[in-house]
Amino acid sequence: MFINFWYPVIRSAELGTTPQRVRILSHNFVVFRDAQGKPAVLSDTCVHRGGSLSGGKCKDDGTVQCPYHGWRFNRDGQCTRIPSLGINAKIPTRARVDAYPVEERYGIVHAFLGDLPEAERPPIMPIFEADDPNWRSHSISFEVPYHYERSIENGLDPAHNEYVHTTHGHQGERESEYKVNELEPSQDNPWGYGFMHTYDAPPLRNGVLRFSRRKGGKMQAGSGTYGPNQMWTHINISPTKSMRQYLFEAPIDERHTRVFLVTYRNIVFFKGGLLSKLNNWLDRKVTVRNLFVASQDITVVKQLQPVLTPPSTARELMMPADRIIAQYREKLDEFEVKGWRIDMERIKRDYERGNVIYAIPSPARRESKGWVLESIPLVAAADPGKVAHLVTG
Ligand code: FES
Ligand SMILES: [Fe+2]
Repeated sequence: MFINFWYPVIRSAELGTTPQRVRILSHNFVVFRDAQGKPAVLSDTCVHRGGSLSGGKCKDDGTVQCPYHGWRFNRDGQCTRIPSLGINAKIPTRARVDAYPVEERYGIVHAFLGDLPEAERPPIMPIFEADDPNWRSHSISFEVPYHYERSIENGLDPAHNEYVHTTHGHQGERESEYKVNELEPSQDNPWGYGFMHTYDAPPLRNGVLRFSRRKGGKMQAGSGTYGPNQMWTHINISPTKSMRQYLFEAPIDERHTRVFLVTYRNIVFFKGGLLSKLNNWLDRKVTVRNLFVASQDITVVKQLQPVLTPPSTARELMMPADRIIAQYREKLDEFEVKGWRIDMERIKRDYERGNVIYAIPSPARRESKGWVLESIPLVAAADPGKVAHLVTG
């Protein structure tokens, strides 16, 4: 897992002025809306004596109040009140918690969990359809019981559809004709690779979309990444009709992931008037189908061994259809070379002992010293020649 990327925290619709605890990168955060309705994301650990801020209250002055001794913290993480000192007391400068840059986009609150200054931050994955009235969107979130890299790699894998998803291809029944066609590079960017390819798309056997496909039909689809945890999938049903899926994934810890799926489609059957209400009905149908497809993936991916991706591709036998997965791992190695990989071995050791809690560093740590909590240990910035996937290709 890595610092210095944007992570999805909560769906906008689920956030109000009650503080909520969200676990990402094996650490707790408190998320709430301030008095202006703007979302704030802070480290959840009160620097007084370790209270959990998310167990407290939001106050009228836009702060969150710790449930233990009532210290208040504003959206910048600064403590504004220590009740035990009495009214108008001077607040020590060290009385602050890490506060993270926040953006509310595509119906999701995203937080930048890291300390890079704004100009150097990798982007939130762009969704160009978001501003186009011809596209209709809706979003869901759900949890999967495995590491986020396993989840992303599953999405980058064109060869699993035939066997995992009964509504794709020939359901593994016409192997003499089946083959994964050439993967064409698509939407490569400084933070990830992508591909598109053409595959057989015979009519669906049932479901609301069964009339959308013809016998002998072909479809084009592909996926790619932006950073370790954001992935796009485009499915071109015809030259003019498409589904676009955008996944923003929050690693809860090394064994669990919260997935935020935003789906766009330019198949809007009912424009204007009373009939437009039927679009909500179709949204629900698409959601049911997405959750069904996700459940098929979960059944297989939760059984993968080892539970984390192996440190070297030498312990797997990759084929050309796995190319984007290998490229994804190379990108992760590039992020490790930058010194952004969290040292989970050390953290697990320390947390087992139970007498330390670290904080994910926020940008303010680059400007001032004297933080109460120690910054999370990171794997030392590596020599590119010594990182496993870059060596093995
Ligand atoms: S632990 Fe938070 S106010 Fe004391
Ligand atoms: Fe899948």
